[in-house]
Amino acid sequence: LSYVPGLENIPAAETYISTIDTDVGKIWIRGFSLEDLALQSTYEEVLYLLIHGTLPDFETLSSFRRNIYDEWHVPQEIWDIVNMLPRDIHPMDILRTAISALAGFDRELDDPSHEANIRKAVRLVAKTGFLVGNLENMAKGGIRVFSRDLSHAANILQAIIERPAQNWEARAFETAFILYVEHELAASTFASRVIASTMTDIYGAVCGAISALKGPLHGGANEKALEVFQYDVAGAERFVRERLAARERIMGFGHRVYRRGIDPRAQVMKDILAELCRRHGDDRLYRVAVRVEEIMAAEKGLYPNLDFYVAPVYKLLGIPVKLFTPIFAASRMAGWCAHVIEQQLANRLFRPRAIYRGARGSSYPSRN
Ligand SMILES: CC(C)(COP(=O)(O)OP(=O)(O)OC[C@H]1O[C@@H](n2cnc3c(N)ncnc32)[C@H](O)[C@@H]1OP(=O)(O)O)[C@@H](O)C(=O)NCCC(=O)NCCS
Repeated sequence: LSYVPGLENIPAAETYISTIDTDVGKIWIRGFSLEDLALQSTYEEVLYLLIHGTLPDFETLSSFRRNIYDEWHVPQEIWDIVNMLPRDIHPMDILRTAISALAGFDRELDDPSHEANIRKAVRLVAKTGFLVGNLENMAKGGIRVFSRDLSHAANILQAIIERPAQNWEARAFETAFILYVEHELAASTFASRVIASTMTDIYGAVCGAISALKGPLHGGANEKALEVFQYDVAGAERFVRERLAARERIMGFGHRVYRRGIDPRAQVMKDILAELCRRHGDDRLYRVAVRVEEIMAAEKGLYPNLDFYVAPVYKLLGIPVKLFTPIFAASRMAGWCAHVIEQQLANRLFRPRAIYRGARGSSYPSRN
């Protein structure tokens, strides 16, 4: 047996959901390029594509959207549980707790059928969006109801920023939201498939995924990536050089799969950052990003990932930094659910082996 730390480049599942094609710098989601989806489709369409395998026609999409609206409601008991948690814990911990508690309110929790799993997936995506939109509002004493006239993404954004969003703001947010939706076997998705392979319920699988996503090497990076954007270009350059000299990581750079160039998702967000800076009449964040990108390429041969460019975009949209990772979770919930469903359709329990480096045959000390 040969051991590969972190299972780097080791296939650990067969999937029809998505792949990262590093040769052409594309992410394919059920055959479609993720950039095309991010720029041209809606989150609801992509959700349908992920869990049903095809794009919906107009009527199917309309009824699917109604279905999502019908599932937003989060029982009062969940908000009561959330309110009992200490005020200062990270919203990802609140989200994980809320999703875990929601399992108890789902009458189909233990129905393992494919149809029930699909219904639970839509429910989970709808409720996670509603929860994330309202995590801060709840702490302030009231939730904002979602509107049937707005898209899922626009509803989340408006609940978070507590004001109507301009069309271009809603579209920038939705583009990022779609870009986060699915990314093959990221650590959280792999975690969800491992859990699902025991044939446990979908809620348990996505709770594990939320825990994995919180880590700074994964989704938690978008929060940390914002740090460098508090400076002007010279300050950012100093910050990066000092960090590198101290052998610390610059969050939002590097990726296990993209080794030779920019994450294609980051390029889309880079263009959106440029547009948002133009609309705000201030290009400081864009200039900082470009300078940091240049330094990281020259000093480390590392390129930005999606989180690096999402951070300043969210900042310009007025989103509080502690909601950056929960928003990622609200989007990726769709990808996790698609993988859980796929895993359980043709399941084989994950049970790898470990290479034992410990002792053998130690004699148990006599107690008398
Ligand atoms: C994503 C990540 C975990 C991938 O890591 P990995 O595949 O295990 O890469 P490695 O740890 O093998 O890194 C290779 C080298 O680049 C360095 N490196 C990797 N990412 C770095 C970063 N963001 N900043 C500075 N150096 C970095 C490593 O220290 C290592 O250097 P060394 O060979 O001198 O020790 C890593 O790049 C990282 O921690 N990035 C920051 C967190 C982040 O943005 N995560 C979001 C991913 S979408």
